[in-house]
Amino acid sequence: MSSRPEIEVCETAEEAALVAAEAIASWLAAGLDENSRASFVGTGGSSPGPVYDLLSTLPLPWDQISVTLSDERWVPPTSPDSNERQLRERLMVGEAACARFVPLWSDAPTAEDAAEAAEAALADLFPADVVLLGMGEDGHFASLFPGSPVLEEGLDPFGGSLVIAVPAGDPAPAIERLSLTLYALKQAFLTIVLVRGEAKRRILEDRDDLPIHALFRATDMPVRVIWSP
Ligand code: 6PG
Repeated sequence: MSSRPEIEVCETAEEAALVAAEAIASWLAAGLDENSRASFVGTGGSSPGPVYDLLSTLPLPWDQISVTLSDERWVPPTSPDSNERQLRERLMVGEAACARFVPLWSDAPTAEDAAEAAEAALADLFPADVVLLGMGEDGHFASLFPGSPVLEEGLDPFGGSLVIAVPAGDPAPAIERLSLTLYALKQAFLTIVLVRGEAKRRILEDRDDLPIHALFRATDMPVRVIWSP
């Protein structure tokens, strides 16, 4: 896979969300033509919400689709910072309410214990049919941040673990997190990276040394980078 997929340019964030939702839905439907189940990995932050809103209106066989997250903050699902909360509120409603959600967070004593529990629960979701990711202005995806003490483990394409605990750190993340690994994510039959703004476009076009570029290099599967101003 090239370290730099072509950037698909949309005029607005709304158009980008529509393109992403259509790609996710068609890929999940195609996966269900082949298998009795399909799996979708959503993400956190501000980009995916509009995509979830659109997906939740689509009449897919959601009872045959499993959903999880690329990463989670170490907060309960009741927290406004919870990625699970956003996904439950904006995707697991309407047509998609009957999908099976597999959380990363659990009320385990530590993030490490929760990662271990999630590892077992997620096993049958991989390889995922579709993964939706955002990207930070530091080139992070999921919760794999530059400078993190667990970045090497998280970006090991042959690491073997699906989920790791990510300690809070400086500069990021402010909250301890759980993250899928590159090993887990690179298997996806389609990865969509949804990004906005000039700063992120420059990261994509001018750099090749950040976590997102490791993802591009590691996967042999299609990656669509959907960008809007
Ligand atoms: C999170 C996300 C994170 C996000 C990027 C981009 O938990 O915050 O998983 O990796 O995708 O930070 O965030 P935006 O979509 O808000 O730009």
